[in-house]
Amino acid sequence: MLRKVSLLAAALVLVAGPAFAASEAKKPADIAFSYEGPFGAYDQAQLQRGYKVYREVCAACHSMNMLSFRNLADRGGPFYDPKYKNANDNPYAKAIAAEAQIDDLDSETGDPIKRAGTPADRFPAPYPNAIAAKAGNGGALPPDLSLMAKARSGGPEYIAALLAGYKDAPAGTAVPPGLNYNPYFPGGLIAMAAPLAPDKVTFDDGTKSTVKQQATDVAAFLMWAAEPKLEERKQMGAGVLVFLVLFSGLLYASYRRVWRNESH
Ligand code: HEC
Repeated sequence: MLRKVSLLAAALVLVAGPAFAASEAKKPADIAFSYEGPFGAYDQAQLQRGYKVYREVCAACHSMNMLSFRNLADRGGPFYDPKYKNANDNPYAKAIAAEAQIDDLDSETGDPIKRAGTPADRFPAPYPNAIAAKAGNGGALPPDLSLMAKARSGGPEYIAALLAGYKDAPAGTAVPPGLNYNPYFPGGLIAMAAPLAPDKVTFDDGTKSTVKQQATDVAAFLMWAAEPKLEERKQMGAGVLVFLVLFSGLLYASYRRVWRNESH
C-alpha cells in the first residue's frame, strides 16, 4: 500500500513538475490584434508605428537579419502602396533605406566603405558580430528579432507583455547587477533593461505614445515580420472554403440529376 502511494506521488510529481515550472512566468494578457480571426488583416498604421519603435529603440541592440528594406513595401507590409507593384520603387522604402549606412567595398580599390542603403539591402545589424553584441550588453546576447514573434510561446502577446511588464521586484527577490525584474520573463530576471518609456517614440499619426501602445505596436510589427504572408494565406483559405461550398452544391445537384428516375 505504502509502495503504491509513493509510486503515485512520484508519478504526480513527474506530471505536475513541468506544469509548475511553466506557470512560474506571468501569463501575458490577451490582445485583440487586427490580424486575428479568419478574415483578419494587419493594421497598416499600427505596423508603421511598430516599425518606428523598432527603428528608434530596439534596433540599437537587436538585428532583424531576415528583413530587407523592400519588404516594408511588400503587399501587407507597413509601407505597401498598390501604386508601386515593385517594392523597390516604393518611395518610402527608398527613403528609409537611404537613411541607413551600409557596409560595402569600393568597387575599384576594394577598400571597405559605407554607402547609403537601397531597398534591396538588408536591415543593418547594430553589432558586427555576436561577441561584440554580448560585450555591449553585459554578456547577454540580444537575439535577432526577425522570427521572434513565432519563436516564443505566446508570440506577440508575450512580447507586448514583456516590454510593458517591468516593475519593482517583490520583497525578497534579489536582483543582481545587470539584471532586471520582469514577471513575464521565465525566471523573472532579464538582462534587457526596460527599453520603452512614455513618449519615447513620437507617432506620426498622432496616436498617444504610451508604453503599452509602443509595446503593442512593435509586437504587431514583429508578428508581421515573422509572418508577412498571413493575409494572403487567410484569403486563400477563404477562397478554398467558398470553392468547397460551391463544389458540394454542384455535386449534390448532379447526384439528384443522375438518380432522378431511379427508385431508392
Ligand atoms: C540596450 C539594448 C536593448 C534594447 C534597446 C532592446 N533590447 Fe531586447 N534584449 C536585449 C538583451 C541583452 C536581451 C537578452 C536578455 C536575456 O537573455 O536576459 C534582449 C532580449 C529580448 C527579447 C527576448 C526575450 C526572451 O524571451 O528571451 C525580446 C523579445 C526583446 N529583447 C525585444 C525587444 C524589443 C521589441 C525592443 C524594442 C522595443 C528591445 N528588445 C530593445 C537588449 C536590448
